[in-house]
Amino acid sequence: MKILVTGGAGYIASHTNVELLKEDYEVVVLDNLLNSVEESIHRVEALTGKEITFYQTDLLNEEAVDAIFRAEKFDAVIHFAGLKAVGESCRVPLLYFDNNLTGTINLLKCMDRYGVKKLVFSSSATVYGHAKEMPITEEAPLFAMNPYGRTKLIIEDMLRDIYASDNSWDIALLRYFNPIGAHESGDIGEDPNGIPNNLVPYIAKVAVGALDKIHVFGNDYDTPDGTGIRDYIHVVDLAIGHVKAIEKLSSNPGLVTYNLGTGVGYSVMDIIKNYEAACGKELPFVIDPRRPGDAAVCYSDASKAERELGWTAKRGIKEMCEDSWRWQSKNPQGYSK
Ligand code: NAD
Ligand code: UD1
Repeated sequence: MKILVTGGAGYIASHTNVELLKEDYEVVVLDNLLNSVEESIHRVEALTGKEITFYQTDLLNEEAVDAIFRAEKFDAVIHFAGLKAVGESCRVPLLYFDNNLTGTINLLKCMDRYGVKKLVFSSSATVYGHAKEMPITEEAPLFAMNPYGRTKLIIEDMLRDIYASDNSWDIALLRYFNPIGAHESGDIGEDPNGIPNNLVPYIAKVAVGALDKIHVFGNDYDTPDGTGIRDYIHVVDLAIGHVKAIEKLSSNPGLVTYNLGTGVGYSVMDIIKNYEAACGKELPFVIDPRRPGDAAVCYSDASKAERELGWTAKRGIKEMCEDSWRWQSKNPQGYSK
């Protein structure tokens, strides 16, 4: 089976490519390298001993995307490509609407034109907004908290409309919780540009000496230690979830939606402690005010994916921190340098 992986040079996609290649899927990557480097693809090839066809192409260029569909006969698409920084999306919403929405529409037009109607979409727990009830099930109300979240919700809505109009599509909406960690080899991992926005990449930079100290955003939440609680999921478990979703699409399920999380919440302080154990040093931190827009607690009910995909997250918080640290310490400057 030949799979088009959009955004295939990025963090989650590179780990997914490893798992797809291990299962003998043929992988074709489309990425404009806006937030990634080609080296990640070569590392995946080295890890698996298999080749990836790579197109450096922007989804905004519909003609170029069409030419790829004409040249390759895809069986399915995994659509990771998109911009994902919440703060940036509030500053430049149009950039997010254009890239994430127009890019997706161009992709869907090509899929429709060439009769490729199996799609796995990278959605996010952000579509639940500030959920009132924990754990969050797939039936919880949906709400966009910011322009980034709005793009995810609009794309989900578009896909529900497309499926309603044409039942021959098979679509898996995967709502990720907080992906962290790296492949156990330490050869591929998350390589954010500039100062990281998210907790674990930030801690990794402090651990490697590139940043001074961790900023804990609030310790006055209504949680056991006062810091925010999230459902962190190992990126390799998440990657395997995509292979399971592709398998599911082969059975023509229609449009299906799954939370991909562990169902377990950890606080910011839990993560710092586990990371200290992984890197073998104390990590300096300060308590800052809450970050606007952050919820106190967010974790999944991941039982639907277990029931219907036969998938559960297997790797715990210790492995998540150890694998993140292995990647960061082996690649202190990330991929490119
Ligand atoms: P990433 O930035 O590492 O990967 C996204 C890739 O898409 C990058 O390689 C980028 O160059 C590419 N891209 C962006 N716009 C493009 C365009 N117009 N044309 C072609 N390529 C383009 O991000 P990631 O963390 O691997 O996330 C992958 C997907 O998962 C994204 O859609 C993201 O919104 C979603 N997601 C991520 C998280 C997370 O915490 N990392 C959580 C939930 C959902
Ligand atoms: C992020 C995205 C969200 C997405 C979710 C799951 C942001 C703002 N939100 O959520 O859209 O749905 O991933 O995919 O990027 N924290 C600190 N110090 C830091 C950074 C974070 O204390 O330097 C805290 C936060 O307050 C939060 C926790 O760490 O309690 C996790 O934050 P982060 O890694 O940014 O992810 P989320 O905000 O949960």
